[in-house]
Amino acid sequence: MIAALHTACAAAVLLALATPAVHAAQNKPHQPAANATAQGKYVERGRYLVKVGGCNDCHTAGYGMSAGKVPEKDWLQGDQLGWHGPWGTTYPTNLRLSMNALSEDDWIRMAQTMQARPPMPWFTLHQMDKEDLRAIYRFVRHLGPAGKPAPAALAPGVAPKGPAILFPAPPAK
Ligand code: HEC
Repeated sequence: MIAALHTACAAAVLLALATPAVHAAQNKPHQPAANATAQGKYVERGRYLVKVGGCNDCHTAGYGMSAGKVPEKDWLQGDQLGWHGPWGTTYPTNLRLSMNALSEDDWIRMAQTMQARPPMPWFTLHQMDKEDLRAIYRFVRHLGPAGKPAPAALAPGVAPKGPAILFPAPPAK
């Protein structure tokens, strides 16, 4: 009895899983339109994630100071404002250049494994699900490459020439 129920359940699950595929097959003549809509959804979601995920706070010059009033075409081009601490001085990268130079799969792999110096919250990227990472990539792809590379990072103890935010040493463990 239990085994029979089990099989019935499995069949129901299989049926549920199979339905979208049947649907997709029926939609075949409209595939380009359907793909454009799916792509639009990714771009829209990517825009949202970049906004609420705080990427602009560091990777877009003047974003925080203007309460987010930087036109979207200028987003994610990196910043000349350095972050100075025990790790040296880092500059938020121009993501419009770095991400547009990667394939979607390479970006996902990188986002899931990368480590960077502070204050980049790389550990947050590790926690994003794959579809969210894909959406961010497609949004940045949609914006296209722009701007120039951010200044190269400076080694610990080297004084930055331009403006930089000073970080204290992390609390002792
Ligand atoms: C608090 C500031 C800050 C925030 C917020 C932030 N970043 Fe960064 N990010 C940096 C800095 C600084 C670097 C350069 C780190 C280094 O040189 O080691 C960096 C580096 C990176 C890199 C690696 C270098 C490259 O371009 O390939 C990626 C990818 C990245 N950030 C993506 C993101 C994304 C996506 C978000 C939003 C989810 C984000 N960052 C949010 C400051 C930040």
